[in-house]
Amino acid sequence: MEERIVTGQETSEDSFEFSLRPTVLSQYIGQEKVKENLRIFIEAAKMRSETLDHVLLYGPPGLGKTTLAAIIANEMGVNLRTTSGPAIERQGDLAAILTSLEPGDVLFIDEIHRLHRSIEEVLYPAMEDFCLDIVIGQGETVRSLRLDLPPFTLIGATTRAGFLSAPLRDRFGVMSRLEFYSEKELKMIVTRTAELFEAEIEERAALELAKRARGTPRIANRLLRRVRDFAQVEGDGTITYNVAKSSLDKLQVDSLGLDQIDHKILKGMITRFRGGPVGLDTIASSISEEPQTIEDVYEPYLLQIGFIQRTPRGRVVTPLAYRHFNLEVPE
Ligand SMILES: Nc1ncnc2c1ncn2[C@@H]1O[C@H](COP(=O)(O)OP(=O)(O)OP(=O)(O)O)[C@@H](O)[C@H]1O
Ligand SMILES: [Mg+2]
Repeated sequence: MEERIVTGQETSEDSFEFSLRPTVLSQYIGQEKVKENLRIFIEAAKMRSETLDHVLLYGPPGLGKTTLAAIIANEMGVNLRTTSGPAIERQGDLAAILTSLEPGDVLFIDEIHRLHRSIEEVLYPAMEDFCLDIVIGQGETVRSLRLDLPPFTLIGATTRAGFLSAPLRDRFGVMSRLEFYSEKELKMIVTRTAELFEAEIEERAALELAKRARGTPRIANRLLRRVRDFAQVEGDGTITYNVAKSSLDKLQVDSLGLDQIDHKILKGMITRFRGGPVGLDTIASSISEEPQTIEDVYEPYLLQIGFIQRTPRGRVVTPLAYRHFNLEVPE
């Protein structure tokens, strides 16, 4: 099966190497603004012996939301409880989690935009007043009971903040948007991970990986793992610039980190739709991908590097992308 370097999901290999995750704020590379704010909010909450306000982390996959949630719990010195939007099927599931929290705990809900509306409603009083409204009985005997919950911090993570309902969004005191990482930051992440792997890596090789990691730490670490394999089997284990470059080419990750799917998206738009504007669904069906995968996983980076633009009439390929493929820009 073809291996995909660029995927929205965390793979078993990624989570197996969870030890790669930094555990304190000072080891978390980049995202300076987000870190600076969090550092202050954490410090202030600790000084007042209060729980930290609820935090919403949003941004494209693989930028470090889960890592940051764990760091926040660690810095606050509390337990981290992890669940996800799709995993909570009934109100009772959430009630069970909430009532089992210890004072101050962090409850991390990944993919919070996928929570069912009826379950969201349980969260409103829980977030606002640390209590749970439960309905018991039926018909004329129906009564509502209010249960107190321990104070806790909810950390929600989502790739699409726009999908959250307004009442839920409003209940987060801190909203932090994670940005794509710079080459310099990714180079630091690659170097740090190589150290944890006890792998020798040339500085130029680390930079080359950083350049092709499309602004995303998870991809940088994935590329490093693959390149390390090539270095081990075809070289003497040291990740040299030449090994890095030739193995990245073999993995079909181009000089900007674009892979075969990006190429299919862009070239498809150019050849079949004269560069657009073309709708997301049309692009998706023309290359047999899910529209949501394109929107969440591929498009953010293509927008970031200015290869496509969103217009009211659809997506448009920009001259920059034509030049990347050595194609003539149409009039
Ligand atoms: N700032 C950082 N410094 C060092 N390593 C990082 C940083 N951010 C992320 N990583 C690494 O990148 C990997 C992906 O991060 P993480 O799983 O936290 O991303 P995510 O935003 O939760 O992704 P998703 O949206 O898919 O859940 C982690 O294994 C971690 O090692
Ligand atoms: Mg995550």
